[in-house]
Amino acid sequence: MNKQQPLLQINNLSLAYGAKEILKAVQLTVCPGEILGIVGSSGGGKSTLLKTLTGLLPANAVITGGEILWQGHSLLIGGRLNSSGLLGRKLSMIFQDPTASLYPLQTIGSQICTMLQAQGQFDKAASLQSAAQVLAGLDFSKPQAILNSYPFQLSGGMNQRVCIAMALLMKPELLLADEPTSGLDLLTQQKILRHLLQLKTDHHTALIVVSHNISALAQIADTIAVLRQGEIIESGPAQTILNRPQHDYTRKLIEAIPHFRKEFLL
Ligand SMILES: Nc1ncnc2c1ncn2[C@@H]1O[C@H](COP(=O)(O)OP(=O)(O)OP(=O)(O)O)[C@@H](O)[C@H]1O
Ligand SMILES: [Mg+2]
Repeated sequence: MNKQQPLLQINNLSLAYGAKEILKAVQLTVCPGEILGIVGSSGGGKSTLLKTLTGLLPANAVITGGEILWQGHSLLIGGRLNSSGLLGRKLSMIFQDPTASLYPLQTIGSQICTMLQAQGQFDKAASLQSAAQVLAGLDFSKPQAILNSYPFQLSGGMNQRVCIAMALLMKPELLLADEPTSGLDLLTQQKILRHLLQLKTDHHTALIVVSHNISALAQIADTIAVLRQGEIIESGPAQTILNRPQHDYTRKLIEAIPHFRKEFLL
């Protein structure tokens, strides 16, 4: 039993886009240094849930009920979320669409320096050096060239890895990662999962990781929640969910995991 104070508590959170109900009484808790994996159907509300926590929802989104607590303090003021004071070293996010979080008219290196400067690191050379090291760890063979590039000069998967590098450099207390490995090759996916796990082990970062791949999530997550049509239909320790799923939908997700057969590889 984990007795430490939760970093984040989401109690009965409900949210609608206009009249359309998207999240229904969502209940989740994340403790410091814990990895929560969220799986679920496409359009089920996973990205909406993560964006709610950053306060970056479109104007038509309305929180219709519930509360969100950061270290026991409510983040909701007059039905809107006020988490701007947390963004950066406390709370960071890797978005599902990497281009949404990169500025098109600034080089990657310059964006990383601006980001680190906002967190109090003013030594540009040191920022670029640590950025190059992190990029090299994410399979970029020429990190310097990446730092000198604009986002439009890189592929979607490269921009995705750049966003992951930025999150790794930030080392927040809670990192929200929305499908951080989708669209990447399997070896790179494994490498990114290892880096996310390392954030937890080296910096005690807590993570909420959204993925369609429940078996990949189970490799790093302490707990898994299954979100279907806006409702958490099942949650618990990752291995329990994987080995003894209670809900039919979760069983189907697990059965759908592709199994590699050795004879196909020979
Ligand atoms: N700005 C918006 N205005 C109105 N409806 C929206 C808006 N953004 C998302 N939605 C709707 O909210 C629902 C949940 O979308 P969301 O992107 O959170 O799903 P998701 O679980 O992340 O899906 P995926 O796995 O495909 O990424 C969908 O029905 C979507 O059409
Ligand atoms: Mg999504």
